[in-house]
Amino acid sequence: MAINRKSAASRALVREARLSADSLVMPLFVRSGVRAPTPIRSMPGQFQWPIDELASECETLFRGGVPAVLLFGVTEKKIKTASASAAYAAGGLVPRAVRAIKKAVPDLLVITDVCLCAYTADGHCRLPSTEATLKTLGKMAVAHAAAGADFVGPSDMTDGNVGAVRRSLDDARLEGAGILAYTVKYASALYGPFREAADSAPAFGDRRSYQMDPANAVEALREAEQDIAQGADILMVKPALGYLDIVHALKQRFTLPIAAYNVSGEYAMVKAAAQQGWLDERGVWMEQLLCMRRAGADILITYWAKEAARTLRGR
Ligand code: PBG
Ligand code: ZN
Repeated sequence: MAINRKSAASRALVREARLSADSLVMPLFVRSGVRAPTPIRSMPGQFQWPIDELASECETLFRGGVPAVLLFGVTEKKIKTASASAAYAAGGLVPRAVRAIKKAVPDLLVITDVCLCAYTADGHCRLPSTEATLKTLGKMAVAHAAAGADFVGPSDMTDGNVGAVRRSLDDARLEGAGILAYTVKYASALYGPFREAADSAPAFGDRRSYQMDPANAVEALREAEQDIAQGADILMVKPALGYLDIVHALKQRFTLPIAAYNVSGEYAMVKAAAQQGWLDERGVWMEQLLCMRRAGADILITYWAKEAARTLRGR
């Protein structure tokens, strides 16, 4: 075995998993009511973007080799309501952002997060009634796809969400829009920085009644079966690192592309240690992204996408 490791050339020859900029997705936050990019305290190097700056950042990303972005809307308190009505306004924040991005960089793939937590007054991902939740998610997905989103990502973990979104898109003659299903979203403590970034922390309780129990693996397979039956195009596992067994299991069992979401807490931990000089940031993200690929992830959603694309393309 050691013979194969002796030189860089032999290591490259026998390498099993590879990183490529083509599989990267950069999550981005678009915020209303700000004039300049606002740094996110718990995610050093990440910003909440006003629409104009977002579009130019997308141009930079695309030129740097990042093929896709995942867009989250950050809304002002005053538009959050019990029914999350701002979530599906055709002239709302995310549809306007999608239009601006598509105008500036038509070939950049735009994926939008479809969830109600940035729009509900209580910060929860769903409304008290399942029926109302599914209807609202459907309208939200239509607003995003009509603005030009290539994929929508329902992330609320309500049973039936993928089917409801698929039907709404088809009924609106948006058959060409795909679904990135947040198939296996665990109730994780690693979303903390994101909730600060998206101002979407629940006002009471937690998300354990809808997100998955970190103790479960077989249940993830059932979630995947349901999402596939309802029309998912890509299956996502989230968070990534503690859940690579799930990534691997889905890759083995199903034929859809698998995405791993390297979440905000996973990013913040490494950033914090790197800022102390305790870890080599680039070494860590390279290794971790590679491990996600080795486990079976086709698509890597990561806050390091910009840096990773630059590094991988040797710039
Ligand atoms: C909201 C949503 C969350 C994330 C993505 N979509 C947070 C949550 O469920 O509370 C987390 C992403 C990250 O931590 O990077 N539905
Ligand atoms: Zn949510």
